[in-house]
Amino acid sequence: MFNVSKITLRPNYHIHPVMGWMNDPNGLCEYKGIYHIFFQYCESVSRKESIKWRHYSTKDFKEFKDNGITISPDTKYDKDGAYSGSAIEYNDELYLFYTGNVKHDGDYDYILEGREGNVLRVKSNDGFTFTDKKLILTNNDYPSYLSCHVRDPKVFKYNDLFYMVLGARTKDDKGAILVYQSSDLDNWELIFDKCFNDLGYMLECPDIYVLDDKFIISFSPQGIKEEDNRFKNLFSNGYCVNNITKDNYIEWDLGYDFYACQSFIDSHNRRIMFGWAGLFDSKLEYTYPTDDEGWKHMLTLPRELTYKNDKVYQYPIKEIIDLKENNHVIDKSYDNSFYLESTDINNLNIFINESMNININNDKLDVDFIKNGYGRRKRVYNINIEKIEIFCDVSIVEIYINDGEYVFTSRVFSKEFGFKSNKKLNYSKMRGTKYDSFNR
Ligand code: FRU
Repeated sequence: MFNVSKITLRPNYHIHPVMGWMNDPNGLCEYKGIYHIFFQYCESVSRKESIKWRHYSTKDFKEFKDNGITISPDTKYDKDGAYSGSAIEYNDELYLFYTGNVKHDGDYDYILEGREGNVLRVKSNDGFTFTDKKLILTNNDYPSYLSCHVRDPKVFKYNDLFYMVLGARTKDDKGAILVYQSSDLDNWELIFDKCFNDLGYMLECPDIYVLDDKFIISFSPQGIKEEDNRFKNLFSNGYCVNNITKDNYIEWDLGYDFYACQSFIDSHNRRIMFGWAGLFDSKLEYTYPTDDEGWKHMLTLPRELTYKNDKVYQYPIKEIIDLKENNHVIDKSYDNSFYLESTDINNLNIFINESMNININNDKLDVDFIKNGYGRRKRVYNINIEKIEIFCDVSIVEIYINDGEYVFTSRVFSKEFGFKSNKKLNYSKMRGTKYDSFNR
């Protein structure tokens, strides 16, 4: 059992690595009554080693088991990283599909040459021990107009057949999407491929599902230039309803720290999505200073998705709401994990952790880092606002507007915990979740 210090930037109820680096959520599923959350993981905070899948499991999103490394890059088809992928149940077994990243030795650009993005799978009959690593697709199976960058298989079932959606980069730097079909998870046939002129140079982590009879196509396009107060993150993450176009594209989150989301459906028929509350853009102007605590990055709260008013609403699942310890009105507190809510939103000001200033006035959301933003500054959105809820968890703030019509996620790296407000707010302290691998 690992002990961590009390005065830390570690969150109390957001999923994060005990030690090391985390990025994308992978293989999300509920299998035999247990929720499985895998994620991209490296032992060092600087992501020195090849990336692997690490595995947490939980029955209730309150107590978590850390099952260690599940997929290691240990074959010639994945030797430079077990990249992102997904889970699917078939004939009582759990299959994980992922990308085997391979970089050949030599003088290559690793975009047009020198790289493989293979699809592999492993399987399990208990959800914890995975064997039978098998190569499913190689770059030779992808259309010839694509570069070496093809990855992130999301496998799903629809009308008795399986589908696999992959993200890609074309040889002339456009984002592209591929869809394969299969009846047995072993043999796959390409049934759809498309590249997009105005959706960046690479499209990562696609996901497709039906919500209220609509097809939701979610993906992470890289390299779209900022325009009309959209695409403020160079690596964006959003969705289209039924049809992929730039005009249709809606960003999942308005904040600084959200990428590579993935969803799954649970036995209560809930569509639950996690995002990675981080970004990995080499030109990123803001940082994540938790290295000297030995860990880096976290996932967002699990958000249940519903389709309303022509868009997808996101709201923390009930298990997270249950972590509220009490519910009383207060205007000031200094606890480090708390929830705030208000419907008295005109001219409302909330100052969090002596760092992040949230101002709402005349349907304008203004989030400004007065200090300690680590490069994060000010964002202003003109949106209709009726209600604001804030989940603050030590070094992350998730702001939900109008029951999840809009969400703004940002890391906040200040140890001056608490908030101040110009109006009375509904306030709850939040309980922490537990891990078997460490004590707080
Ligand atoms: C997204 C991503 C994926 C890739 C993984 C590698 O953040 O770049 O496309 O599979 O991370 O860690």
